[in-house]
Amino acid sequence: MEEAQSKVLYSAVQPSGNLTIGNYVGAIRNWVALQGQFTCFYAIADLHAITVRQVPAELRRHTLELAALYIACGVDPARCTLYVQSNVPAHAELAWVLNTMTYVGEMERMTQFKDKAAKHAENVNMGLMAYPVLMAADILLYQTDVVPVGIDQRQHLEIARDIAVRFNNRYGETFRLPEGYIVKEGAKIASLQDPLHKMSKSDENPNASVYLSDDRDTVIRKFRRAVTDSDNAIVASEQKPGVTNLLNIYAAFRGCTVAEAEKEFAGKGYGDFKLAVGETVADVLAPIQAEQKRLLADKAYLSDILSRGAQAAAHTARRTLLKVYRKVGFYRGE
Ligand code: TYM
Repeated sequence: MEEAQSKVLYSAVQPSGNLTIGNYVGAIRNWVALQGQFTCFYAIADLHAITVRQVPAELRRHTLELAALYIACGVDPARCTLYVQSNVPAHAELAWVLNTMTYVGEMERMTQFKDKAAKHAENVNMGLMAYPVLMAADILLYQTDVVPVGIDQRQHLEIARDIAVRFNNRYGETFRLPEGYIVKEGAKIASLQDPLHKMSKSDENPNASVYLSDDRDTVIRKFRRAVTDSDNAIVASEQKPGVTNLLNIYAAFRGCTVAEAEKEFAGKGYGDFKLAVGETVADVLAPIQAEQKRLLADKAYLSDILSRGAQAAAHTARRTLLKVYRKVGFYRGE
């Protein structure tokens, strides 16, 4: 029997190309696990993606590829609302209102803004700065209870809550306050070449990230080259960030705890360990890649899912937007 008022879950990924295993275990995989328990909205955040320069034809292709990937990973369009962010105008509309209640100083302090501004110094645009406000709009439009994300998005989630509280205080109860859902194993997958930094889609070193599109040999080769350390103990500790990262990845892909993984590899050498991690990851990726390819061959199906998703999302989002417009005093006719 369906619950009358099930809680709402919202999350999104940017269609900025090559997704990594970090995106999978930090976000998408958890969406699949949670989709039975919540009313779920999963977006493809193309409005966010254009805060750094995109090639238009590639952005369009990556958007469709990401839709296929969501479904290939197990997101069920019959049970979730899956849509492209720019297809629902309320996101940009609410973001504008929220921009007027967000301070420049707050945005300048955001870690991701500082990182991206340093990386794209030639293109520090207003959208890059207001990125967390748009993300707040995404979440708040759906009266979201839960947002499953990786650790790197925690600060953005906190600002979304701050903005919601600020709006509610000024105009009366309007937005529900969202909570993060951040898993233990896999919330922060680190770079294979520099395990003190997160694995990122945009890393210039292709050996640093394992992409969801990598074939088996590439996955195994990247893990074989992963940076570890000079002693030989396969244990997780702060002094051993490389090995800890590999244990985390193994645990996340194997569906076990890090402690269980440590026990499994006790007494083994790094070579065997890295090979096992690579094989385990490749085994999980192969069926996802095959399914994504199959789905991409059926563009009409994907287009239909996305257009129905956008309609459903727009319906829900509009309700919140109109409430906001009324509260801030916009004239809507007599
Ligand atoms: P994005 O596209 O950078 O990343 C998508 C998701 O993947 C997680 N993630 C990781 N998790 C673990 N280890 C890693 N190395 C790693 N790298 C990325 C991210 O935490 C994220 O959950 N702003 C968001 C997209 C967004 C969004 C939203 C998310 C737009 N609107 C509303 C939640 C709610 C972003 O850029 O994610």
